[in-house]
Amino acid sequence: MKSVTDTIKLANGVQMPCVGYGTWETPNDIAKECVKCALKAGYRHIDTAAAYGNEVAVGQGIKESGVKREDIFLTTKYLITERGYEVTLAAIDASLKKLDTDYLDLYLIHWPYVEKTTPEWAEINAETWRAFEKAYNDGKIRALGVSNFEEKHLVALAKYAKVPVMVNQLEFHPGYTQLDTVKYCQENGILVQGWSPLGHGTVLKSEAMAKFAEKYNVTPAKICIRYALQHGVVPLPKSTNPERIADNMDVFGFEISPEDMAEIDALPEMGFSGWYPEDAPAVGYQSK
Ligand code: A2P
Repeated sequence: MKSVTDTIKLANGVQMPCVGYGTWETPNDIAKECVKCALKAGYRHIDTAAAYGNEVAVGQGIKESGVKREDIFLTTKYLITERGYEVTLAAIDASLKKLDTDYLDLYLIHWPYVEKTTPEWAEINAETWRAFEKAYNDGKIRALGVSNFEEKHLVALAKYAKVPVMVNQLEFHPGYTQLDTVKYCQENGILVQGWSPLGHGTVLKSEAMAKFAEKYNVTPAKICIRYALQHGVVPLPKSTNPERIADNMDVFGFEISPEDMAEIDALPEMGFSGWYPEDAPAVGYQSK
């Protein structure tokens, strides 16, 4: 990989740029300018979600950037508060409308339904997936995936899926890596994306990151982004600051040694959001 626009092939052959620009917690009123800034800097992969409340602004940013839609890899995600075949189809159309686009490059189930709160969790995830498959077969979505799924959620869904899960987007940063789930995904043809690759800023201020930043003569943020890439994980760094947006792309001029990768793997937990999938709220389910 030499730049953020270099691509990784998903299981169905669709190409995904190896670093994406994240928009979680970017308010609707500034998301347009942030997305324009990221596209101007050179990112070609933008990640949003219905839950972020900024799809309209993200769509406007893409339009106003002047970059052709087909040159951008655009991801959004399905709310956790809704489930059901018809409801999911309607949600896909609503996201397309808000983003002002005819198609999505990637659509994800944002959080799984889980056993702790929903006895029929596996069937509900499968029913949602069936709607994803319809939109995929109708040409509205180029690739399908999930987010925050652990191995057991993936195994359960695979029993029903006619179109396989191609992506799993997980919290991934030094201090919280979920390496067992990453390994399972990579062994089963599922590309892993990393959300909060900078550890919500906390990890950036750690002594460990300061040490590696000094050793490699880069910023702590670049250590985090590079660490994800060297694990085969597509990082989705976010920033609202134009200089940091551009600077975070410059991660191809150094390589973290295997020994240092292992040392980062072994760091104690830090920067974890505290969100376990089993605690995801299962509300608002509407049956077909
Ligand atoms: P800002 O928007 O002011 O740049 P994560 O994606 O892991 O949740 O972390 C995002 C946080 O990291 C944001 O608060 C962002 O703040 C900050 N951030 C992004 N890039 C950098 C950087 N290069 N140096 C320091 N902080 C950064």
